[in-house]
Amino acid sequence: MSKKIKTIGILTSGGDSPGMNCAVRSVVRTAISEGIKVYGIQRGYKGLIKNEMQEMTASSVGNIIQRGGTILYTSRCPEFKEKHVREKAAQILEDRGIDALIIIGGDGSFKGAIALNEEFNIPVIGIPGTIDNDISGTDYTIGFDTAVETAIDAVDKIRDTAQANDRTFLIEVMGARSSSIAVKVGICTGAENVLLTSDKVDYKKIAADIRRGLRRGKNSSIIIVAEGEKPGRSYDIGAVLEDMHDISSRICVLGHIQRGGSPTSNDRFYATAMGQQAVLALTNNQFQHAAVVKAGKVQIVPLSDCSSKSDHALIDFIGMAESLSI
Ligand code: ADP
Ligand code: F6P
Repeated sequence: MSKKIKTIGILTSGGDSPGMNCAVRSVVRTAISEGIKVYGIQRGYKGLIKNEMQEMTASSVGNIIQRGGTILYTSRCPEFKEKHVREKAAQILEDRGIDALIIIGGDGSFKGAIALNEEFNIPVIGIPGTIDNDISGTDYTIGFDTAVETAIDAVDKIRDTAQANDRTFLIEVMGARSSSIAVKVGICTGAENVLLTSDKVDYKKIAADIRRGLRRGKNSSIIIVAEGEKPGRSYDIGAVLEDMHDISSRICVLGHIQRGGSPTSNDRFYATAMGQQAVLALTNNQFQHAAVVKAGKVQIVPLSDCSSKSDHALIDFIGMAESLSI
């Protein structure tokens, strides 16, 4: 089926991530160059069903490439899982004359986009944006690189004080269902242990690792904990280490600091390239697709390839981290 796309809507949905603004800028300016009108929809699907949007111009996306967050704002909109709510969204798009949507978000946001396409024949293109890097079909999601850099910077600082005080630290990084940040940060900071979201914590092993370190003169340890389903789970882990294994620790939950800040060059570059390809995909009659990064190349793939994956390929490197932290 071919359809001439004259007007598109763009929205950011789910958790924000540094670099989303770069993608918005790229989409808006590519569309304008292609003679396509763009509406910026506010606060994701929530703004769509409330008809909150305005036309974007080349200058409305000026001076945002370096800013974290999203100028379009974001939100979660659980009611969008219901068909009658999506029907309302489809009607608003029709009334506004919007022919297609570009959605920047995670796998949940993509599910909403697929439903809109399948039920109401609205062309949709996804751009993966989440710090968690937990989407299949792409090696990379916008914001992961910045979040990792932020966490590494924090861990390096904590290591200074850990060493000065002969202390063990549990440092919790984000990732409700993904250990990608934990693994990368663990490797890049030389952490003594990395606890994955899926891990049943092996307290005996952690205690043995710390004691082995002490025997060879290592006076401090850093354990990176993936947040998992219960943010703050490091406090529980620290309590068990203290009560059952006589190991005292300090806890630091890095939290939402990882979601903000100026995007790194990788996030700026790939967000910009994916934004451009997303618009070109629509002009090329690709109507239920995603712009992704695979083997260093920006490509267009079916949106159905981009579902959640609980743990990323980075997990393959966990053995390397362990073998080096002897
Ligand atoms: P992410 O997009 O980062 O994975 P969420 O899982 O919170 O974040 O999803 C963001 C939004 O996408 C939800 O608030 C909802 O509006 C929409 N969404 C999620 N799952 C579905 C679904 N199964 N059907 C329709 N819309 C969905
Ligand atoms: O953006 C993904 C994520 O950072 C998860 O790792 C985290 O658990 C979640 O968002 C928290 O988001 P919020 O505080 O917005 O619910």
